Amino acid sequence: MLPAWRLLGRGLERPPRREGPVITATAATTASVHVPVYRPYLGEEVQEAARAALEAGWLGMGKLSRDFETGLEDYLGLTDRHVVSTNSCTEALHIAARLIGLGPGDEVICPSFTYVAGHQALSRTGADIVFCDVEPDTLCIDPDQVRALITDRTRAILAVDYLGLPCKLDELMQIAHEHGLRVIEDAAHAFGTLSDGRPVGSFGDITCFSFGPVKMMTTLEGGAVVTGDPADTQVLRELRHLGIDSDTDARYRNQRNWDFDVVRQGYRCHLGSVPSAIGLAQLAMVDEFIGNRQDYCRYYDAQLGDLDGLQLFETDWEGIAPYIYVVRVRDPELRQDLVEHLKSRGVATGIHFLGAHEFSFYADARRGPLDVTELATQQVLTLPLHPYMDTATLDRVVSGIRSFFEAAADGAEGIAQTA
Ligand SMILES: Cc1ncc(COP(=O)(O)O)c(C=O)c1O
Repeated sequence: MLPAWRLLGRGLERPPRREGPVITATAATTASVHVPVYRPYLGEEVQEAARAALEAGWLGMGKLSRDFETGLEDYLGLTDRHVVSTNSCTEALHIAARLIGLGPGDEVICPSFTYVAGHQALSRTGADIVFCDVEPDTLCIDPDQVRALITDRTRAILAVDYLGLPCKLDELMQIAHEHGLRVIEDAAHAFGTLSDGRPVGSFGDITCFSFGPVKMMTTLEGGAVVTGDPADTQVLRELRHLGIDSDTDARYRNQRNWDFDVVRQGYRCHLGSVPSAIGLAQLAMVDEFIGNRQDYCRYYDAQLGDLDGLQLFETDWEGIAPYIYVVRVRDPELRQDLVEHLKSRGVATGIHFLGAHEFSFYADARRGPLDVTELATQQVLTLPLHPYMDTATLDRVVSGIRSFFEAAADGAEGIAQTA
């Protein structure tokens, strides 16, 4: 009889993890199967957790929400920092921005090269976005460029851990300290990443995570804010839940407090019980997800590293929780052709990211030089990376890419010979 994970249908199976670089081929992969960029794990453990939470009948923020927050605190090894869960990372970033009082007249220095969720969460307060360049090796915000952009209106820096690589948070914290700024770390891509041996989220100022549909682990939609000051935690809880001062503790016991005050403008972005239960099930497996994805990234590196047409990120993935696997196509003019070539072979790709400074909504935003961003936005290409992949799937992606560059080289040679 097939094991339970094989009976669940496409997208749900969980092949056992094998010691060694990659999992061996399973029946799930055939040449005709489309290879998506993402494929979240939604197997039996996850479904069972959701079922149990549904049967318990307490759907709103409740005991499971607190259990999920505690689970995150334990996983990250937090002793003096606290997690406040939210219904997305965008809302986590938004309430972080409200916490530090961002508003009209303020500026916040952000990489242009990130998902627009970050810019939208911050500009929603009325603050002005200032676009900053990224460093060429990690595509994380460049601290020297940050320094050059600070004015007396600057209130905060948005630091993004691109694809799971940690940004230079210590240096950014130092800059913030010198200028009286706050640092909001958008760690949507970096749950589980270590920076100098410390889990992202266990240090710094304010850290926001995403547990969206395709992230390292998912609550379907979800996020969290981590801060070090207990007073900030209380304010974040109020911001998360309609400015209500005292209902959270009762809800954490699956109860309601009918006598409360509203002490500030709040929002409604808490994480309910069913997503929290799913998050707890995913959290129990996240080390396996991370280990697998590290293996797959190393496999891609080994198979693609000799191609002159690609630039790979220089990391051995040790301590990195890779959310996506990104290559840079050295000749930007070839990127769309490569996308089409892979698509014709059933392999999907993504682009992380467009430059937000190009969006019409941010046309008037102040900006520094964006040379690295301009080039990166034309070169980056995201390849399929899932929590469970088999060798055949990885090889399909690899052979699609290799055949593209081999054909391009043959074409160039042919032209040279006939010239
Ligand atoms: C860098 C970054 N920040 C924030 C977000 C928003 O996360 P969420 O979808 O949980 O709101 C994303 C989503 O992909 C992202 O890539």
